Amino acid sequence: MKHFFHKGNDLSKPTLLLLHGTGGTETDLLPVAGMIDDTASVLGVRGNVIENGMPRFFRRLAEGVFDEQDLVFRTKELYELIDTAAKDYGFNRNNVIAVGYSNGANIAGSLLFHYEDALKGAILFHPMVPRRGIELPKLSGTPVFIGAGSNDPICKPEETKELAEVLERAGATVQIHWESFGHQLTQSEVQKAAAWYSQLM
Ligand code: MLT
Repeated sequence: MKHFFHKGNDLSKPTLLLLHGTGGTETDLLPVAGMIDDTASVLGVRGNVIENGMPRFFRRLAEGVFDEQDLVFRTKELYELIDTAAKDYGFNRNNVIAVGYSNGANIAGSLLFHYEDALKGAILFHPMVPRRGIELPKLSGTPVFIGAGSNDPICKPEETKELAEVLERAGATVQIHWESFGHQLTQSEVQKAAAWYSQLM
């Protein structure tokens, strides 16, 4: 997968795994990473699926209807990329925090849904429930921040709450921050995510 790695100034910090929204690239969330922790290492990844010329992390059958088989395949592909990148770039594989927006938040959610040890924590901006009807791995204490919009037409509030409940049932510690906007990523929700992150450190 196309990606880049920037080594941070403080190697005790997590590596931030940047996962863009549909039509984005691996560098889109760099300013967001800088607001969350400008001393952390950054691994930015570009989705391998192209939809009408737009990179995504997995195929969908329609807006909001995911191709589950592809989602599972792509989730494994991303999981393996993190493993390989940790060896190649020498960062701590057990200290990776995902920062995903929209489609990128959905594949980050899928990492949590399918692997116990994929992520130390996750910042999910406008995520959906990636899959239903599966048993999640144990996510004991895994911290998850969800940024959501009460008027988000793509990630509806009911779905945001459902995602938080499913993750909590698996043991994750979830904090939802609501904005009264739609699907867009706002500066204030990034600031809230940054405050949440700094409490973990
Ligand atoms: C998705 O397909 O992952 C979600 O609908 C979000 C989007 O990318 O529009």
